[in-house]
Amino acid sequence: MSLTDGFGRKIDYLRLSVTDHCDFRCIYCMDEKPTFLPRSEVLTLEELEQIGRAFVELGVRKIRLTGGEPLVKSDLVKLVDKLAKLPGLDDLCMTTNGSRLTKFAQPLADAGLQRLNISLDTLQPERFTATTRTGKLERVLAGIDAARDAGFQRLKLNAVAIKGNNDDEIVDLVRFAREKQVDITFIEEMPLGILADNRRDHSLLTSDEVRARIAPHFDLIATTENSGGPARYYKMSDSPIRIGFISPHSHNFCGDCNRVRVTTTGELLLCLGNENSVDLRKAVREHPNDIEHLKQVIRDAMGAKPEKHHFSTGAETQILRFMSHTGG
Ligand code: GTP
Ligand code: 5AD
Ligand code: SF4
Repeated sequence: MSLTDGFGRKIDYLRLSVTDHCDFRCIYCMDEKPTFLPRSEVLTLEELEQIGRAFVELGVRKIRLTGGEPLVKSDLVKLVDKLAKLPGLDDLCMTTNGSRLTKFAQPLADAGLQRLNISLDTLQPERFTATTRTGKLERVLAGIDAARDAGFQRLKLNAVAIKGNNDDEIVDLVRFAREKQVDITFIEEMPLGILADNRRDHSLLTSDEVRARIAPHFDLIATTENSGGPARYYKMSDSPIRIGFISPHSHNFCGDCNRVRVTTTGELLLCLGNENSVDLRKAVREHPNDIEHLKQVIRDAMGAKPEKHHFSTGAETQILRFMSHTGG
């Protein structure tokens, strides 16, 4: 059993957004005073589990829980526990801002979560609070340590590289990752959601520019390694960690796309950079416990997956969804 789209791409990776809420307000993700969705519109834990199960029965091998911040959802560990038991799911992972890991890292690992990606854009406390608007660097650093102690198969840091914000810290971030023995990925900012004070055309820092800043300090060796996501990885001769680059603008990766997303409201989004979607919440709510119906809706949706995104680096934002609703 497997899902294939109209361009022959095999879909085996689901990004499942569990909440649009977040305790941070990152400048590239949300407005300072965002509007959150009413609870009735958001998928319940049972609905999330059912959707996860349907995808795994259809051949999905990797589920990444995203948000918003997944760990602000109550009982999330219970969902992890249920999903981890699905036969056929090889990789259950989560992307988090790290603010609650001192409390949750160990319970998540014990429940069967295998990998964590933790966002970290800066190592400077004031800058961290300016970028996230509400976050405290100290807490996230303690969260990273808690995750290291919890025994995950792999940890990765995610930094959105932005000119004038953290471009002077690229090498410091690599040094930190080497010290902590965790992978790190640099991401080009994507134009999602209208943000009043963020002019993206002035701030794009390409992955090649980021790499050029690292190269004088560390010898980067290109690899063909793949973590099932869009990152291209480099290694170093004197450290076991990997440095990844996610470059939606400068190195389009749509040809190898293996993933779809389910948003917080149950829209099956076939591409991060396109608006077309299929309503899975309706399918689960109108046909409760009918997993075969849900699977058929998902199978039928695959034909609508677009060939590629059309992000441009122009000032205007093309996609009106916010990253926190879409699921990073
Ligand atoms: P691994 O499983 O470790 O490979 O992680 P991942 O890169 O799949 O997931 P993560 O949540 O760490 O995502 C890092 C960045 O990649 C985020 O900014 C995502 O939005 C972005 N990303 C993931 N998939 C896509 C995609 O299909 N298109 C685009 N444009 N960006 C994506
Ligand atoms: N462009 C690129 N990455 C983003 N993220 C959030 N918003 C954006 C954006 N506009 C990142 C977060 C997190 C991951 C899920 O997505 O920093 O690491
Ligand atoms: Fe929250 Fe992640 Fe968005 Fe930052 S990028 S506001 S941590 S959802």
